[in-house]
Amino acid sequence: MKVSFDKAKELLIGGEIVALPTETVYGLAASLRHLRAIEKIFTLKGRPPSNPLIIHVGDAAQIFRYSTSFTDEIKAMAEAMWPGPLTLVLPIMAEKVPAMARAGLPTAAFRIPGHSQTLDLLKETGALVMPSANLSGRPSATCIEHVEEDFGLDLPIFDGGPCRKGVESTILCQKEGRWCIGRLGAFAPEDFIPYLGYAPAILEHKGIGTPLCPGQLFRHYAPKAELKLVKEVSADSEGAVIGFSDRAYPSKCRLITWGESDNPEKVAENLYSALRKLDAEGVDRAWVDVDFPQEGLWLTILERLKKAGQIQL
Ligand code: TXA
Ligand code: MG
Repeated sequence: MKVSFDKAKELLIGGEIVALPTETVYGLAASLRHLRAIEKIFTLKGRPPSNPLIIHVGDAAQIFRYSTSFTDEIKAMAEAMWPGPLTLVLPIMAEKVPAMARAGLPTAAFRIPGHSQTLDLLKETGALVMPSANLSGRPSATCIEHVEEDFGLDLPIFDGGPCRKGVESTILCQKEGRWCIGRLGAFAPEDFIPYLGYAPAILEHKGIGTPLCPGQLFRHYAPKAELKLVKEVSADSEGAVIGFSDRAYPSKCRLITWGESDNPEKVAENLYSALRKLDAEGVDRAWVDVDFPQEGLWLTILERLKKAGQIQL
C-alpha cells in the first residue's frame, strides 16, 4: 500500500513498519526507539535474531549519540562517501543501542543512505533500522513491486522509484587496526584508497567461528530457480539464460538480459530484477553468464550470484 511522505513519517514515529527506498535496495524501516517494531521486522522477514540490522541516520552527527569512535579515517570516508552506499561497523556505547538491533554485538553498523526523500524522512524520524525489504534468503527488492511480491499489498510502502545502484551497501569492519570488507557492495575495494591509503581486504568466512559480519553465515539473494554459473553456455543448452544483451546465446535458450557486458553499473541495477523474473515466470533452472572481469563492481555481482546459486565456479 503506497503511503505519502507525511503518512510514512507518522507511521514510523508511531512504531509501525514502512518500506522505504534507498539508492541501493528498498529497506524495511522501523524506529530505533520502538523495540516492538524492531522485533516485528525480524518476524516479518523470517530473519535469524543473530543477524544484526544496519542503523540508518540522516547525518553523521547522529552517530556520536551511539558511538565514541570517530577517527580521522572515519571522518574522511564519511565526508566523501556519505550519503552513499557505505556502511561502517563501529564500537558503540552499549546502553544507547538496543541489543536486539545489533544481535548482542558490542558494535553496530551505520549508514547514511543516498536517497533524497528517505534522507528527508530520516531527519524527521531519527535513526531507523532498515534491513533489505525481502524475505530472508530471497533476492533483495529494487522497486515497490518486488516489496509487494514478498510482503503483500497491505505493507505501507513509500514509493521512491526504482533503486539506482541495485546492490547493497559495502560494509566495512575493523580487524586488528585495519579496515576490511565484511560485505562487498556498491563501492568497490579500490574506492577506499583515497581515504584509507589502501584497498580494504575482503573478509572471507572459512566456516570456523563467528564471522565479523554475521550476514556471511546465512543464505542470501536466492530465487527458487536453481542457478548454474557458467563462463560459456554450451551450444546444446536449453531454457533460460541470464546474460548480456550484446552477446549471442544458443538458439534454444531464452535470454533474460541485465544489460551490456561493458556496463557493470547497469548489470548491478538489474541483477535482482533478473533473479526475481525467474520465479515470476516459474523457471526452475537457469544458466547465468559470469564471463566478466573479476574486479571492481563485477566482484560484488559475482559474490551475489555465488550466494544466490549456493556457490559454484
Ligand atoms: O544497502 C544496504 O545496506 C541495505 C539498504 C536497505 O540500506 N540494507 C541492508 O541490510 O542490506 P541487511 O539487513 O539486508 O544487511 C545488513 C548486513 C548483514 O549482513 C549484517 O550481518 C550486517 O549488515 N551487520 C549489521 N550490523 C553489524 C555489526 N554490528 N557487525 C557486523 N555486521 C553487521
Ligand atoms: Mg539483506
